[in-house]
Amino acid sequence: MDYFPLAVTQAPAFCNRKIELKRLASNIQQSRPTLIVSPRRYGKTSLVMNGIAKSKIHYAKFDLLSVTDEEDIKNVILHGTGKLLVDIEKGAKKALHVATELFAGLNIKMAVDKFGLSIEIGKGGSKPAYEILNILERIENISKKYDKKIILFFDEFQRVTQVTEDSAIESVIRQIAQMSKNLMFIFTGSNRHLLHKLFDDRDQPFYKLCDRITIDRIGIEEYFPYIQHAAQLRWGRHLEEMTINAIFDVTKRHPYYLNVLCSRLWDDDSCNLADVNKLWNRYLLEEKSQVGAELDLLSNNQRKLLGALARNEGISEPRGREFQALSRMSGASISQAISALEKRDYIYRDTDECYRVLDPLIKAVLANINL
Ligand SMILES: Nc1ncnc2c1ncn2[C@@H]1O[C@H](COP(=O)(O)OP(=O)(O)OP(=O)(O)O)[C@@H](O)[C@H]1O
Ligand SMILES: [Mg+2]
Repeated sequence: MDYFPLAVTQAPAFCNRKIELKRLASNIQQSRPTLIVSPRRYGKTSLVMNGIAKSKIHYAKFDLLSVTDEEDIKNVILHGTGKLLVDIEKGAKKALHVATELFAGLNIKMAVDKFGLSIEIGKGGSKPAYEILNILERIENISKKYDKKIILFFDEFQRVTQVTEDSAIESVIRQIAQMSKNLMFIFTGSNRHLLHKLFDDRDQPFYKLCDRITIDRIGIEEYFPYIQHAAQLRWGRHLEEMTINAIFDVTKRHPYYLNVLCSRLWDDDSCNLADVNKLWNRYLLEEKSQVGAELDLLSNNQRKLLGALARNEGISEPRGREFQALSRMSGASISQAISALEKRDYIYRDTDECYRVLDPLIKAVLANINL
């Protein structure tokens, strides 16, 4: 049993999120559009997939992470629709039959291949936003035909804003989300700045459309018994408390990094405090050049500020004299760098309003001069 997977996780390798799952279940039941927000790799997709699995409702998943233009968005939606039909019809051949009827009148090519049902819209048709409206209306027709609710899950929705010039696609999605009784919309996103613009701006189509669920790191009270349970299964005994505290300390309970470290620890025949530090340092060394390449994309001042925050835990007054001296930057440069780094989720303010580096790997690489 892999208790610490590095990809989207399902029960039993899914820890807690009970409050969020309950709220998602209630929103699914009431068909209330829902937006799930968190920084990268906190567990948005896992949360939604677990919520959907519990609901036992058919769904189409539209993974927008890699879209680069409107055509891509349309194709992702078509691809997800194909999978939905195969799921509802319990097989690609039957789905092809239904799809042929469903998409009648559109310039569409369909085929059954080894991946299931592939659907493509011929080139030179209408604008992608109009075609997306057409597809969503047809999904609505399917839900009516079978008298079944369908969940439409748009993963990494902020990409739509990033790759489109106007808000035509958002407008058609809003139109369907408001009108449809059978379709339930879930959106996730990791760029909080863009999502704020998209969902909280009065002039944008998504203004006040969704119930918003913000997910944070998993709490100590939930992770502790979860890890002890996995230890019991692996080695037939619990870990020492200080070993688990060390895991929490280096990974900062960031779900992805906690899984990276624990999956390595669980490969060994035993696990103690020294192993935690040894394997985490080995991981830092492996990833150091990758982090360096990412940091090369920052301006000099942004990098300087990030380094200073990494070396100093929780700064409450970054523009104050003390931190100006520590970072060797002027107040104005600090202000500029802070706002750029916050927008891009490199840093965040914790519950005590102290600034911290968000990614524990970046923090560790920047803080650890011995690496
Ligand atoms: N509730 C959870 N319990 C245990 N591990 C989890 C949980 N949620 C997520 N994880 C782990 O965290 C990592 C990230 O999960 P996931 O891909 O769902 O996050 P995400 O926010 O959608 O990430 P991305 O920004 O890359 O899309 C994975 O390794 C996953 O196994
Ligand atoms: Mg995801």
